[in-house]
Amino acid sequence: RFVSEAKQILSEFRLKNEELKEVMKRMQREMDRGLRLETHEEASVKMLPTYVCSTPEGSEVGDFLALDLGGTNFRVMLVKVGEDEERSWKVETKNQMYSIPEDAMTGTAQMLFDYIAECMSNFLDKHHIKHKKLPLGFTFSFPVRHEDIDKGILLNWTKGFKASGAEGNNVVGLLRDAIKRRGDFEMDVVAMVNDTVATMISCYYEDRSCEVGMIVGTGCNACYMEEMRTVELVEGEQGRMCVNTEWGAFGNNGELEEFRLEYDRVVDETSINPGQQLYEKLISGKYMGELVRLVLMKLVNEDLLFNGEASELLKTGGSLETRYVSQMESDTGDRKQIYNVLSSLGVLPSELDCDIVRLVCESVSTRSAHMCAAGLAGVINLIRERRSEEALKITVGIDGSVYKLHPCFRDRFHKIVRDLTPHCEITFIQSEEGSGRGAALISAVACKMAASIL
Ligand code: BG6
Ligand code: GLC
Repeated sequence: RFVSEAKQILSEFRLKNEELKEVMKRMQREMDRGLRLETHEEASVKMLPTYVCSTPEGSEVGDFLALDLGGTNFRVMLVKVGEDEERSWKVETKNQMYSIPEDAMTGTAQMLFDYIAECMSNFLDKHHIKHKKLPLGFTFSFPVRHEDIDKGILLNWTKGFKASGAEGNNVVGLLRDAIKRRGDFEMDVVAMVNDTVATMISCYYEDRSCEVGMIVGTGCNACYMEEMRTVELVEGEQGRMCVNTEWGAFGNNGELEEFRLEYDRVVDETSINPGQQLYEKLISGKYMGELVRLVLMKLVNEDLLFNGEASELLKTGGSLETRYVSQMESDTGDRKQIYNVLSSLGVLPSELDCDIVRLVCESVSTRSAHMCAAGLAGVINLIRERRSEEALKITVGIDGSVYKLHPCFRDRFHKIVRDLTPHCEITFIQSEEGSGRGAALISAVACKMAASIL
């Protein structure tokens, strides 16, 4: 009885093929609206031009500093860009991770950027390079409306960030001001990119068909190379420009209402940004654990789990982290992993409890993979239509903790993407050190462009 009743409750998470196709179509419609001058203001999917173009002017070689803000960790990296005999890219990195204190994330922009500059100063000291004025590439993983590659305003914070005084301001300016306030080093900020863009570029140097970048981590987003003539917000018709879709905000205009469940509504209402990033909230790592927790609480309240009693910890919002979902789904059948996680949350589960909890994790993470696949299929089919190619061969560069660490996400995701994209041959490459390498490579090109103007 318990299992079949639980399965009944969980059946809401299953998305039929037809429903996934509908999500895909709606995503494409919003993407189209985001690209057009008349509709981009109201479109939920912002389709932000990145000023990263398909006609690189060649690039500089040398040392670059890269910053990566917006994923699980804040990182500072030193990247050497060079060329080997075959003129392909050779890149080496040193990197250091720093955790961002909660008060820097949610205080003032000045506090946040002062902290970033402090970390940079620490890094430069450590590697004895404080005297050098290095070019810097900044991976800043939030929606930015660019005016150029090194200038753009933050539209709104996403994920757990909320530092006041940043929205509506030029992010590169905020960073430059913080460096100036410290006064103990100099830096030449040459490019700011989204993490999806950095990921795509880092994979592009291994595979020239890589024209899509995607993140499934704390947040979820994708970028791709769009024909310049359809990027109406930027003048020019020739070549392609990378567009940051910011698809996490899909659904903000009601496009996902019939797919959102009671748990999704609670996650949204208790989040730092209610009503925003509704698609992302169905998918990404910032929310997956909490969704699982809410479903477990529902089953407890229905008397289907833990004898109808939850621990204080399980009752507490945020206690079930997404990495625990990965851990529980990695269980090989002896229920040890599930038992360990649940006991760390203060409940002592029976074998049946463990089996039901696993079903909950599977339902939530499978829906996440399928929803996300519908979005990517939308992007890939759009690219195929644009190019009027009979068969499209394309590579997608991917990064993020959910994609990398969840044991089944990637297979479930790949399968649905391929099901929804007939006549496309898709290769997925996992990016390694994507943001550091990507930001540095883009900066290297940006330096060259500046140099050739002079
Ligand atoms: C990292 C990239 O590997 O993945 C970051 O370097 C990116 O730029 C991150 O933001 C996304 O994953 P997560 O799980 O850290 O949010
Ligand atoms: C959020 C951000 C987006 C970023 C994604 C992945 O959706 O808004 O810019 O790419 O998270 O980190």
